[in-house]
Amino acid sequence: MSKKPILEMRHITKAYPNVLANHNVSIKLYPGEILAIVGENGAGKTTLMKILYGLEKADEGEVYYKEQLVNFRNPSDAIELGICMVQQNFMLFGSLTVAENIVYQNEPHNGMFFNKKEAVKIVEAFSDRYSLPVDPNAIIENCPVGLQQRIEILKILYQNAETIIFDEPTAVLTPLEVENLLDTMRQLSNMGKSIILITHKLSEVMAISDRVVVMRDGTVVAKSDTNKIDIETLSFHVVNRQIMHEPIASPKIGKPQLEIEDLNLLSTSGKKILDNICLNVKSGEIVGIAGVSGNGQSELVECITGLEKYDSGTIKICGKPASNGSVYINRDLGISHIPEDRYSMGCAKKASVSDNTLMGSESLPSFSKWGFQLLKEVRKFAQSLISRYDIKADSELQKVSELSGGNTQKMIAAREISKNTPVLIANEPTRGIDIGATEFIHKKLIEKRDQGGCVLLVSSELSEIIKLCDRIYVIFNGRLHGEISRGKLDAKNLGILMLGGKISENA
Ligand SMILES: Nc1ncnc2c1ncn2[C@@H]1O[C@H](COP(=O)(O)OP(=O)(O)OP(=O)(O)O)[C@@H](O)[C@H]1O
Ligand SMILES: [Mg+2]
Repeated sequence: MSKKPILEMRHITKAYPNVLANHNVSIKLYPGEILAIVGENGAGKTTLMKILYGLEKADEGEVYYKEQLVNFRNPSDAIELGICMVQQNFMLFGSLTVAENIVYQNEPHNGMFFNKKEAVKIVEAFSDRYSLPVDPNAIIENCPVGLQQRIEILKILYQNAETIIFDEPTAVLTPLEVENLLDTMRQLSNMGKSIILITHKLSEVMAISDRVVVMRDGTVVAKSDTNKIDIETLSFHVVNRQIMHEPIASPKIGKPQLEIEDLNLLSTSGKKILDNICLNVKSGEIVGIAGVSGNGQSELVECITGLEKYDSGTIKICGKPASNGSVYINRDLGISHIPEDRYSMGCAKKASVSDNTLMGSESLPSFSKWGFQLLKEVRKFAQSLISRYDIKADSELQKVSELSGGNTQKMIAAREISKNTPVLIANEPTRGIDIGATEFIHKKLIEKRDQGGCVLLVSSELSEIIKLCDRIYVIFNGRLHGEISRGKLDAKNLGILMLGGKISENA
């Protein structure tokens, strides 16, 4: 590896009105290396990358690229020099083809007209060169998330990216897609591209990075070659304490609180999305739905919560028939819900933390009297969640758009868990959350179970499912393909079932 860094950020400081997001941060990135940046939610990782990419301006400090002092006013300036960022919310046009998206803003022309044939040829050549298979003529909105990410990568390679920033790229991917992405990163680094990877999954850091930088409270607290540090030490640096895994007691199982019989959901073209689903969750139980994403789990959650109307079947919540299509009624029957996508369904970004923590509880007597909101109580409640769940916010009046991604997720999980409903539907509850907070949310879910509540946990994290669930159902192609109880759960069996294979309970 060359001794001269391709990129150097020196003494970067960035303050927001009430928080020092970056304080005297210096990092170096060498050509062809993969540098991992890790740290707790709100540690300042995304802010640092936004400064690098021209999305934010540092108050102090300098950025050097290829030994030249640079001053990016916007991402276009960064892209021009070869620094590209794969954003977590993909920036693709859903109704256009893969090829049209990749060549966007630098299209080949035939005279005055866009040369579609040439665009397809270019994409095929890039796709071959980087071994990133795509169909240039596919429409983006029909492509699964992992494929969309591959398209984003091809797009920045077409833009001539030399330095690539990935901010939590694996949070939304299935395990197989994660493997593919890590392979792609390795390959890009072998071709001389320099990569910065932000992730909360320390196993990914260990598997792929050359060096790792740990941030906490806006500063760099540790730096190491990855092969000189082990995962326990790294995890200690991240949270500044030992993570304790407390044993989980046997469940005290009561009556069924969520009962689903013969649930069917068809697509508009008549394809079975949910195929005769039967399941139940009893009080005192955490029941998991494991599956490769896209096999019907999102739709199942939507039917239970009332977000989607199903075609036939019954759902009972706390022994009473649930409504088919009313979120309001189903919440009233005793359901709370941590949704899969924090921004599109979980919160109102432009509203305050306090307004967000009130959502779904507006008419409770503790928050409302004679039609008026009891603002003092509402704010007190938000303050208590901020402190109990250790949400990094200036105050309960801060806008959610100003919270870091993981802290927004913590706020939503806190709001839903604290509703204390008999049934909690937790869909990817720890997505984007740091290891310390994940442990805390897990503790809260177990606490809920031990107090007689029931939890339906949908997660693409097998380790989360295996750790927490008393029973799991595996979903494949809209059908439940097996039910396994705690103790019989292991990653191998789960993997077989998740791909549609069969095992016996005694296997
Ligand atoms: N626009 C903003 N206004 C005010 N504060 C902000 C703004 N953007 C970020 N912050 C604050 O800066 C701090 C660092 O946030 P940042 O998004 O960089 O964290 P992060 O390390 O990326 O966290 P996560 O792991 O949750 O994504 C947080 O306290 C956050 O609330
Ligand atoms: Mg972030």
